[in-house]
Amino acid sequence: MIRQLLYRSGQLFEFTAADMTRLLLKSRAYNARHGIGGMLLLQDGLFMQLLEGPAEAVDALYARIASDPRHCEVRLMVRAERTAPLLPGSRMAWSEALMDGETPLFDGIETDTQALARLETARNDRVAAAMRDFLHGAPVPSGGLGCARALERVL
Ligand SMILES: Cc1cc2nc3c(=O)[nH]c(=O)nc-3n(C[C@H](O)[C@H](O)[C@H](O)COP(=O)(O)O)c2cc1C
Repeated sequence: MIRQLLYRSGQLFEFTAADMTRLLLKSRAYNARHGIGGMLLLQDGLFMQLLEGPAEAVDALYARIASDPRHCEVRLMVRAERTAPLLPGSRMAWSEALMDGETPLFDGIETDTQALARLETARNDRVAAAMRDFLHGAPVPSGGLGCARALERVL
């Protein structure tokens, strides 16, 4: 069995492309060492991340991520055990929300089309559905994320 966690959070700082690239590179190196896969999504200052892998390793990583001062209002949406991961392989995939006509903020970072295709085909999976909705710009359920809104007012 593997553990699956899905959370969302609000970006607390303006990430540059270099910041985001560094975060992904470090994450991929750490996650690969610990057999953790998943996907990081970004939608207008909000993150959603899927973490999948050995239960203890996933919980330990989530604890680190949840206390990372670069984001706030970290809300766990799903904590489940599965026989197989939704996204196979221990690689942290990446995609920004796919808004019509908008150029991605981080277009230098490769979107993981294989992972996106998997989210599309997993029609009966609630985690895939939540990630698809997020990618298509659906409003994030209320509760928290005030930090992202506060940041918007400051900028
Ligand atoms: C949105 C977000 C997602 C992150 N995802 C991961 C991840 O998948 N793997 C990882 O090792 N670190 C990830 N990090 C970074 C961790 O929070 C943390 O900085 C890193 O594990 C180093 O921890 P340390 O400073 O305690 O050594 C993420 C950070 C943020 C803000």
